[in-house]
Amino acid sequence: MKNYAKPGEVMYHVGLSKEMLQGARYALVPGDPGRVEGLAKAVDPDAVYLASHREFTSWLACVAGEPVLVMSSGMGGPCITFVVEELGRLGVETFIRVGTTGSLQEDLNLGDVVISKAAVRTEGASKSYAPVEYPAVADLDVTVALRDAARELKVPFRLGVTVTTDSFWPGQERYDSFSGYMPRSLQGSLKEWQALGCTNFEMEAATLLTLCSVHNLRAGVICGVIAKRTDSEAVAPPDVYKKAEQRFQQVAKRALEKLIAADK
Ligand code: URA
Repeated sequence: MKNYAKPGEVMYHVGLSKEMLQGARYALVPGDPGRVEGLAKAVDPDAVYLASHREFTSWLACVAGEPVLVMSSGMGGPCITFVVEELGRLGVETFIRVGTTGSLQEDLNLGDVVISKAAVRTEGASKSYAPVEYPAVADLDVTVALRDAARELKVPFRLGVTVTTDSFWPGQERYDSFSGYMPRSLQGSLKEWQALGCTNFEMEAATLLTLCSVHNLRAGVICGVIAKRTDSEAVAPPDVYKKAEQRFQQVAKRALEKLIAADK
């Protein structure tokens, strides 16, 4: 039996109660608390601020007549476990991670969008929930809604297998770290993921997809490319982020509209 929140119960980490969510069953989850307001207002100009606790900033929006929570996860797998655990208890059933990423294939350019079909679990947090043989796979309906929305909006996108890491530097084979040291086990890892056809590096997808699958919740992931790892380790300037942001915001909104219509 699921441990849903009691009336008036406030979740310790995210600072939200069922009453504050007004029955929201859908959540958009960016990593950065600073991006929540922009995303919430992009999907609903009348969105309202709810709370800010630790890395979890939340706003409530309305899309196609349905309340939608927009809440940041912070960075990395452990942070996103709080999102699924506590929002699950509050009745959220569908999660869409909306983030940024480094692309691994030549045909993915800065500002493009990647929709994850699945993710490689190199992170650690999901291992507290399921053995490594368990796949981190995205919900089919959420993924198809994201894909159809991207097509409809003519946003350049790829569906792919994402590599989720616990480290932005060695985990993604970046040498511009504090020490520049790369453990032997990770030397050549970027080339290997490329050879396996993986599309992108990021830091939350595998944890979100594994936990949602284990809990019988739905999850999908859309990320904007802000580093083109076939060219460089660098993160692109803010204008690239702006372009990617505009695209993933539009796609997320349209995908939500599609899902909400299909769920009715
Ligand atoms: N996020 C990542 O985890 N890696 C990148 O290269 C860009 C964004």
